[in-house]
Amino acid sequence: MKVLVTGGCGYIGSHTCVELLEAGYEVVVVDNLCNSKKDVIQQIEEITNKKVIFYQGDVCDYALLNKIFAHHEIAAVLHFAGLKAVGESVSQPLRYYRNNIDSTLTLLEVMIKYNCKNIVFSSSATVYGTPKSLPIKEDFPLSTTNPYGSTKLYIEGILKDLYISDNDWNIAILRYFNPIGAHKSGLIGENPNGIPNNLMPYIIKVATGELDYLNIYGNDYDTPDGTGVRDYIHIVDLAKGHIKALDKVLSGSGIDYYNLGTGKGYSVLELVQTFEKVNNVKVPYQVTSRRPGDIAACYADPSYAYDKLGWKAELGIEEMCRDGYNYVIKNK
Ligand SMILES: NC(=O)c1ccc[n+]([C@@H]2O[C@H](COP(=O)([O-])OP(=O)(O)OC[C@H]3O[C@@H](n4cnc5c(N)ncnc54)[C@H](O)[C@@H]3O)[C@@H](O)[C@H]2O)c1
Repeated sequence: MKVLVTGGCGYIGSHTCVELLEAGYEVVVVDNLCNSKKDVIQQIEEITNKKVIFYQGDVCDYALLNKIFAHHEIAAVLHFAGLKAVGESVSQPLRYYRNNIDSTLTLLEVMIKYNCKNIVFSSSATVYGTPKSLPIKEDFPLSTTNPYGSTKLYIEGILKDLYISDNDWNIAILRYFNPIGAHKSGLIGENPNGIPNNLMPYIIKVATGELDYLNIYGNDYDTPDGTGVRDYIHIVDLAKGHIKALDKVLSGSGIDYYNLGTGKGYSVLELVQTFEKVNNVKVPYQVTSRRPGDIAACYADPSYAYDKLGWKAELGIEEMCRDGYNYVIKNK
């Protein structure tokens, strides 16, 4: 069975392609490489010993999507393509709205044309805004504090309206917590250019000497050691969650929402200390003031995904730290 993976060369998409191929799906990828490299396709093929059909292009390109759907009988789409840097979305809101929403509308229109009504969408825990309590459940109120988060919330709304208009759709909306780590092979992973937006890539750049020290934004939060607490999830566990969600969608699920997290929060200091221990490296840091918009703690209640999809995260924080570093060291 063929599935289309938009943004399949990116961090989460590439790991999901590996799991899809290993689960026996045929994979078609469309990616414009705005935040990834084409080599990733070869790496996926090397890990799995299977072929990927690759189209370089934009998901906003209606003609290209038509061509893909005309050539391949696509049973379902996993829609990862999108811009994801929160800070950048504040300075370039129109670019974020145009890319993330236009690509989704174009994709959905072409899916309707080819009568493919099964989709797994990459949403984010950011749609919970500042949660009223912890752990976060899927039925918590939704709000956002930046254009990136708004694109996720709007797309969730578009998908819901689409489902209301036509109950033939099967839609899984996955709200990711904080994916880190890399595939064990060290062939695919995450190593952004420049100053990273997220903590783990930042820690890795300090460990490799590319950056001098880590900035920890605030150690006076109401958490056990004062630093921010987040729900980190191994990227391979997250990728496996997509296979379960896809299976559910293909079985005729209607629309549903799932938190993909571990349910356990780790502080910035705990993550740094674990990283130092398992990789036997030093990560110098300095504490600076809180960042506006940051919340003290955020972690999932992942029990709904377990009940409905039979999925739960299995890998721990040590594997996340070890595999994430291994990828960068191997590819330096
Ligand atoms: N990484 C995270 O922490 C995180 C958390 C929550 C949600 N998400 C969401 O998950 C999805 C995947 O995230 P990721 O971390 O793999 O990001 P990524 O940037 O590594 O991957 C996204 C991929 O989509 C491609 N892309 C972007 N716009 C495109 C377009 N218009 N047409 C074709 N390709 C396009 C990029 O080139 C890239 O390869 C995104 O939608 C992101 O918002 C990510």
